[in-house]
Amino acid sequence: VLKQSFTPKAQKENKEYGNIVQPQASYKVAILGASGGIGQPLALLVKMSPLVSELNLYDIANVKGVAADLSHCNTPSQVSDFTGAAELANCLKGANVVVIPAGVPRKPGMTRDDLFNINANIVKTLVEAVADNCPDAFLHIISNPVNSTVPIAAEVLRRKGVYDPKKLFGVTTLDVVRANTFVAQKKNLRLIDVDVPVVGGHAGITILPLLSKTKPSTTFTDEEVQELTVRIQNAGTEVVEAKAGAGSATLSMAYAAARFVESSLRALDGDSDVYECAFVQSDLSELPFFASRIKLGKDGVEALISSDLQGLTEYEQKGLDALKPELKASIEKGIGFVQKEP
Ligand code: NAD
Ligand code: LMR
Repeated sequence: VLKQSFTPKAQKENKEYGNIVQPQASYKVAILGASGGIGQPLALLVKMSPLVSELNLYDIANVKGVAADLSHCNTPSQVSDFTGAAELANCLKGANVVVIPAGVPRKPGMTRDDLFNINANIVKTLVEAVADNCPDAFLHIISNPVNSTVPIAAEVLRRKGVYDPKKLFGVTTLDVVRANTFVAQKKNLRLIDVDVPVVGGHAGITILPLLSKTKPSTTFTDEEVQELTVRIQNAGTEVVEAKAGAGSATLSMAYAAARFVESSLRALDGDSDVYECAFVQSDLSELPFFASRIKLGKDGVEALISSDLQGLTEYEQKGLDALKPELKASIEKGIGFVQKEP
């Protein structure tokens, strides 16, 4: 939809045919952590969406300038800024989709779990406000460690009595974006055609690309499978090291998050053919949360796509067995963090 709406031809058609070509802009999106490395480019991409009528930007600092700047783009949405805890409730009221990229990023040598102590509290506080002000919104969690912050969000919502597992998503779209890019490069495929499901979680070996399920059907040598899998699993670290202390992936993450927002809005808008990978409450494995392909609908997760997990190669099955203990521990750490509070 992004591409369709912003080519000069599409813009001309939108002008000429008005409502016939241009989708109705009617959804409210809130971004919490909007002046950060991810937040700013994500806000720009969401500002470009023809499905968004209101774009609310929240941060603890520097959000006024970001909002003033963005508000000059001649796309449909109204941009509003909200600074600090006192303005959070107003930012969230009536939101259809809330995206949380608030929190600290990694530096070289750190794991995502090293961010837990700071980001767990940030996510908990923000999700409490979501529960109080827009409990029906789709909630997209980007803040790391996603394998723990999503269970934290679930537990906070559950305690508030408003948990709807169909509407809580850990954003793992970047793993799919990377897998698609690396596979297309390696196999000389057209990027637009390639789709690789990535399951498990979002950290190291818990990121499991299912290369045998690549569309279009593609064969890989054992060496290619090994090389691609490791590169996809370490792609976040590749960026952290290249940025050398200046943070982690922001631009590719904003691109991926915008794709997930757009998919959510299309599903809310009645499109019945929307599929994405995400880390959600799941019964596809013995773990309570698991990333897989999901079908999105008006009410959130409409179906978990179990077929990807059938007929795995020996390499993938070993990867799946190996990731479960780490993913289980990260999930339990998140749930335990909320439960230890009175
Ligand atoms: P950043 O430091 O550039 O930006 C974070 C923003 O969050 C800042 O603007 C900061 O002011 C804000 N913030 C901090 N505490 C807040 C609070 N209590 N309420 C609202 N805003 C608050 O970091 P970044 O590069 O944008 O990364 C953000 C997070 O996203 C990190 O935890 C990072 O690990 C994670 N991340 C996840 C993925 C993924 O695939 N899920 C990919 C990349 C980064
Ligand atoms: C990523 O995959 O790029 C993010 O999770 C950020 C990180 O710390 O690697």
